[in-house]
Amino acid sequence: MTEIPEHLLKRSRDRRAALGLGGDDAGNGGDDAAAKPAADKPATTAGSAPAPAASTAPAGRAAAPAPAAPPPPKPDTPVVAAYKQRRRVPFWAMAALGVLPVWAFLYARALTEQPEEVAGPIGIGAEVYASCQSCHPGGNEGVGYAFAGGEVLETFPHIEDQIRYVYFGTEQYNIAGVEIYGNPDREGGPHITGARNVMPGFGGELTDEEILSVVCHERFTLGGADPSGDYAEEYETWCSEEAPVFADLEAGGALADLDQRVEGVMPIGNEPIPGSPPSE
Ligand code: HEC
Repeated sequence: MTEIPEHLLKRSRDRRAALGLGGDDAGNGGDDAAAKPAADKPATTAGSAPAPAASTAPAGRAAAPAPAAPPPPKPDTPVVAAYKQRRRVPFWAMAALGVLPVWAFLYARALTEQPEEVAGPIGIGAEVYASCQSCHPGGNEGVGYAFAGGEVLETFPHIEDQIRYVYFGTEQYNIAGVEIYGNPDREGGPHITGARNVMPGFGGELTDEEILSVVCHERFTLGGADPSGDYAEEYETWCSEEAPVFADLEAGGALADLDQRVEGVMPIGNEPIPGSPPSE
């Protein structure tokens, strides 16, 4: 469908107006030119009947410019009419579109945050680890030793010795004159307290439950201990959501005398003691 350009439509309108045809569509130059002499001739030759025709012809010509002055509004084509009456985007749809990015954000969050739902010591420990991150970045070597790749399991075959070291720290071990805080048979030699730098003691700084949790995080999440393999028993006793040690501390028990309440646990005690070799 070809739209006729406005300037062409105007030309046509002007021309029709000049010819005295007003808004009448049917008129064109040829017909009009033929009609004029036809109207004139009878006026000169005929008597009664043609006479009114002769008198109306000029009148018609004089009257024509009036309607031409305000050019008749061009009737809309069906397409234009349909366009003008189209339905606009409703307000509620705009609101719904506006909310879409928020929804997408929440949806993505719901999908990606699932792992953080982990409860128990492993979940708590991941958060508490923010206190350790500066010196043990991501479980790798920093100011302190690395835990990753099983390193921490080499130093502490028993979780009890690690908990005790985190609780008391380098200074307390030095004061107590205890040199080896982990496995004395460690490959490459035992780790000697204060050999590297000062590891702060976290007893009183963190709750007993938080200390257990961060140690579970270091062993299982960062150190790579297998909770369904070699370290299954340790995991079930200390670090799972239902672990009896975790339950004991949650109920208000203290790490210092834990061995008196939970079976199969080595003493942690209330002062630094030397670390122990792997079980026979
Ligand atoms: C200010 C730095 C610093 C911070 C913070 C820190 N550590 Fe340490 N950590 C050390 C240093 C230094 C050593 C080595 C200790 C030594 O030489 O006596 C160490 C050693 C350790 C060890 C023994 C590793 C091994 O294989 O011998 C463990 C376990 C440990 N840190 C756990 C933690 C935990 C858990 C936290 C957080 C609650 C923490 N550290 C926060 C500096 C830090």
